[in-house]
Amino acid sequence: MKSVAFIGTGLMGRPMAANVMEKGFPITVYNRTKEKTKQLVSAGARLAENPRQAAEESDVVITMLSNIEAVESVLSGEHGLIRALGKDKVFIDMSTITPAASRKFSELVEATGAKMLDAPVVGTSSVAEKGELSILVGGDPRVLDDVRDIFHAMGKFIFHVGDHGSACGMKLVVNHFISGMIGLLAEGLELSEKLGIDSSVFSNVLNTSAVKSPVYELRAPKMMAGDHATQFPIRLLVKDLNYITQTAEKVGAVMPMHSLVRDLFSLAATYGYAEQDISAIYEMFDRK
Ligand SMILES: NC(=O)c1ccc[n+]([C@@H]2O[C@H](COP(=O)([O-])OP(=O)(O)OC[C@H]3O[C@@H](n4cnc5c(N)ncnc54)[C@H](OP(=O)(O)O)[C@@H]3O)[C@@H](O)[C@H]2O)c1
Repeated sequence: MKSVAFIGTGLMGRPMAANVMEKGFPITVYNRTKEKTKQLVSAGARLAENPRQAAEESDVVITMLSNIEAVESVLSGEHGLIRALGKDKVFIDMSTITPAASRKFSELVEATGAKMLDAPVVGTSSVAEKGELSILVGGDPRVLDDVRDIFHAMGKFIFHVGDHGSACGMKLVVNHFISGMIGLLAEGLELSEKLGIDSSVFSNVLNTSAVKSPVYELRAPKMMAGDHATQFPIRLLVKDLNYITQTAEKVGAVMPMHSLVRDLFSLAATYGYAEQDISAIYEMFDRK
């Protein structure tokens, strides 16, 4: 059985690593803030002192990190994992980053003889807990076949999207939809409340109409209850929205609605909602 290094045990990485370990893969973990590896280490994971050590001990190295800078920082430097890569190793970056950054990382990684896949995920931390993520994969499909059993420990659906960086592109497309849908939900709820429509009628009509969606089913009750326990923090969505802007500019995609939604969530982050769940956007309307 392949040994796996899991680097980045935050909101998403911790349950993903736990599921890989539960399926019997020997796991070594590393996280910048050591505290967040405690639960996994008590469950049997080995703890590495740095990303390089984690990669030296493993056949497959997975990163699940905030952004491009974070991936760059665990790859590079004296303790960077790239120093431990070589033929027969596979590096999988599951972070949400831009296609361009992912392609750049794949060139660095593959120059060592190792193989790389970009494999961002769709689903919140509660979906990750259940091992039911959708995993989007970019890179050589033969490499995907070699590590498919590891992906199946974390996800229900696995899609090969195309070459290096293509999965990161598809992930940004999904988050474009999610951000717009959450913005529309908050505005729809605001209008219906101002019209005096009962909240249960609002939910029932929405959930039986053509706009029915798991996005609304999960977030409408959170908005109504003011429950913004973090599943997907606004700060990460703003990061993705900026990545969408950069990527759209690069390929010449025209996205006027995206700009409005990006500015709305960016405003929420500056108003102090950065660490709250994306459903907290609704509360910002009350501040007007
Ligand atoms: N949350 C969701 O619902 C969701 C869903 C799908 C995809 N994603 C994507 O999945 C990725 C991880 O998200 P998350 O929710 O797990 O975020 P998170 O809880 O904030 O975890 C981020 C991880 O990145 C590490 N990190 C950040 N900057 C670093 C740096 N400069 N050097 C080394 N490590 C660094 C953090 O380490 P520390 O603990 O030391 O800060 C932590 O391990 C992101 O790309 C996000 O966009 C999230």
